[in-house]
Amino acid sequence: MFTIPDFKAAKEAGRRIAMLTCYDVSTAAILQDAGIDAVLVGDSVAMVVHGHPSTTTATIDMIETHIRAVRSGAPDLCVVGDMPFLSTRRGLAAGVDAAGALIRAGANAVKIEGLSGHEELIPALVGGGVPVMGHLGLLPQSVNVLGGYSKRGKDVDEADRIVQDARELERLGCFAMVLECIPAKLAARIQAEVGIPTIGIGAGLACDGQILVSNDMLGLTAGYVPAFAKRYLNAHELFRQAFTEYIEEVRQGEFPPAGKAAVAAGGTAGGSNQA
Ligand code: KIV
Repeated sequence: MFTIPDFKAAKEAGRRIAMLTCYDVSTAAILQDAGIDAVLVGDSVAMVVHGHPSTTTATIDMIETHIRAVRSGAPDLCVVGDMPFLSTRRGLAAGVDAAGALIRAGANAVKIEGLSGHEELIPALVGGGVPVMGHLGLLPQSVNVLGGYSKRGKDVDEADRIVQDARELERLGCFAMVLECIPAKLAARIQAEVGIPTIGIGAGLACDGQILVSNDMLGLTAGYVPAFAKRYLNAHELFRQAFTEYIEEVRQGEFPPAGKAAVAAGGTAGGSNQA
């Protein structure tokens, strides 16, 4: 089982870290079976599972619910839970309580977007036994301040600020950090200058690891998908074909199949509560 200390060990050994987001029991079991290093129960769940327009509607309750589902499908998986919009901005005690709720739900660590305003919370969590993953570059929880989801760190001043923040996250005790939508050259600079692993999304090849939103790479996301999110499967089409076949068979009286053998072969599926 890949654990939080393994992040640093992987960077030191030059072994790339593979992460994906995960929100449900079935996908968690498949990801554990496939040998993923770690999963993020990201606040992207609000968009790709709940259909909301941004991640700002994610709540601690929502993330907790999905962490419980993921943990029950993958008991041995390394799980990082996202601290949702404003959950880190209600004072130290509230931030600690929120992170504690995610750990109690089954996460091994939490992820916090941005550095500014988190200088007290991060060491308090780390000191209290909660590993923290940082997140720099594009910060989707700030979409309303930023005015959209465009690439960050393109000019020298912003790039330097992101490098400084990366060093500070390491100093404050983060075990790794996500770098989202920044130029590949900037990600390479951070990867070389900080001692903790960088996990890139839309940040090029130099990062110590990569993460994608599972629904995007599976071809399940209905709306906009960023260009960097390679589609490994057209799950929408495969699901549609299976659903269409089922609908047709029901309408034609072909499902369920008639006869004794068919009943014996059918059994009860994992999700069925009918004997
Ligand atoms: O919530 C999320 O899915 C994320 C990833 C994009 C890193 O934060």
